[in-house]
Amino acid sequence: MDSLMRIIDSIKLNFEAFFNISPDQHYEPLLRSLLLAVAVWVCLTVLRSLFFRPTESTQLPLPPGSYGWPIIGETMRLMKGSKKPGAFARQRMERYKTTVFKTSILGERMAAFCGPAANKFLFSNENRFVVTWWPRSTQSIFPLSIITSHSSRKLLTSFLRPEYLRLHISTMDAFTRSHMDAEWAKKSQLKAAHLVKYYTFALACRLFANIDDPDHVSKLKDELEVVVSGVLQVPVKLPGTRYYKAMKAAETIRKELAAVIKQRRVDLMEKNIVSSAQDLLSYLLVTGDDDGQFMTEGEIIDNILLLLFAGHDTTSCAMTLVMKNLGELPHIYNEVFREQREIAMSKKDGELLNWDDIQKMKYSWNVVNETLRLTPPVPAAFRNAISDISYAGFTIPKGWKIYWNSYVTHNSADYFPMPEKFDPTRFEGDGPAPYTFIPFGGGPRMCPGKEFARLQILVFLHNVVKRFRWESEVHGEKIEIHNGMPRPVQGLPIRLQPNIL
Ligand code: HEM
Repeated sequence: MDSLMRIIDSIKLNFEAFFNISPDQHYEPLLRSLLLAVAVWVCLTVLRSLFFRPTESTQLPLPPGSYGWPIIGETMRLMKGSKKPGAFARQRMERYKTTVFKTSILGERMAAFCGPAANKFLFSNENRFVVTWWPRSTQSIFPLSIITSHSSRKLLTSFLRPEYLRLHISTMDAFTRSHMDAEWAKKSQLKAAHLVKYYTFALACRLFANIDDPDHVSKLKDELEVVVSGVLQVPVKLPGTRYYKAMKAAETIRKELAAVIKQRRVDLMEKNIVSSAQDLLSYLLVTGDDDGQFMTEGEIIDNILLLLFAGHDTTSCAMTLVMKNLGELPHIYNEVFREQREIAMSKKDGELLNWDDIQKMKYSWNVVNETLRLTPPVPAAFRNAISDISYAGFTIPKGWKIYWNSYVTHNSADYFPMPEKFDPTRFEGDGPAPYTFIPFGGGPRMCPGKEFARLQILVFLHNVVKRFRWESEVHGEKIEIHNGMPRPVQGLPIRLQPNIL
């Protein structure tokens, strides 16, 4: 009886999480209909396995593991169940005593690959055995973006390369200074996670589409929050589900961006502004690829939407966690302050940061890397097997998805002695061994926003450390995984004090 009650409770918990509803809402009738549908589906599946010959893949030496619940597989266990980031993969590696296990996530059969050898295999075999793959929910929210279409990738990533981004450092710095004046300087207590998130989004709006009206930024941010919560969901288009709401919110943002593009075309025609220091939107409107092909309006919109999504949550997560670490480790803060103070003192009054200043922020970048090691903002991503793959004595059938994650190597004592210790000096000299430190992924499909993230995080760090010291109000605040990303459970409440250079 006890186990039956536990199963019913577990179904209810998964259901509440999936539909984003609270226990006090009356959802039992909907739950009953769904359970009936699942029961019918299970019966059909059993009948099919009894009366049809097994497919080739069931005869292959598949890795050990479990597919979890029908349809949702182990998705909820991955997203919510493991309170400790990384526990999902670690527990299964220990249980099955292997670095490869099978599972089912987001409605897909998957093999999880763990450890540096597995990372090397995946990152060095793009287009040979595997190709990048994003869950169906992600693909359908950004259907014309670079995650689904290869044609526009080169053009988009050319905007994100260092030679181009260096032109935007002074804009980033000026923007950060006025944000600090308006939002931080007058406060002695604040929740850093919330402010940092707003800041990174507002800066992305400024640099990608020159949107700087605060009301417009806030409206887009609210919609994007809804998109974020539906990007990694089972793609069931039922009203009320996170996925459904995300599709609707993405549509609203698309309409907003279409209006911005319409106005921009007029501005470009009338004012003929085509300087290379334009925002991403102008860049994409006036720049063609090597064959002189331009992106369609739909591609431009979806790619800007993708970058707003991929580029703000990740960097804000990293910045919040860096602030958390600096608030809890004064000796590390002092070293970062020393480095940033030297840079600040070398500047004339009001002079903005430039490329050379960023290159001097070596210790600060090591601190960021150590933060990304301990709590990677994107702890995992996927590949698609384009042929049957033999790996570690198992076969991964063609068409299966492959889940790789960074926690396993980032937190292993084999590659990072005393892995729980915060020690930025690990990144000095040659740094970590190849394929052990992979916060931005690897191979040809490594994160194209790495340099943008580096600049944005360091410019922010320079400004916040130069102006403030802070103390966490909740020392050792716990980290939870929310929408697939780590965040301090209470939003990082801190006490701020002005700093003296
Ligand atoms: C600390 C910040 C960031 C982290 C930790 C991060 C991490 C990642 C990771 C792990 C991937 C998957 C790579 C792979 O599969 O090998 C990825 C992909 C991606 N990232 Fe980032 N990212 C960050 C910031 C950004 C920024 C600022 C942008 C845009 C301005 C961005 C845009 C993208 C895009 C578009 C993809 C998909 C690339 C593709 O499928 O080809 N990211 N990121």
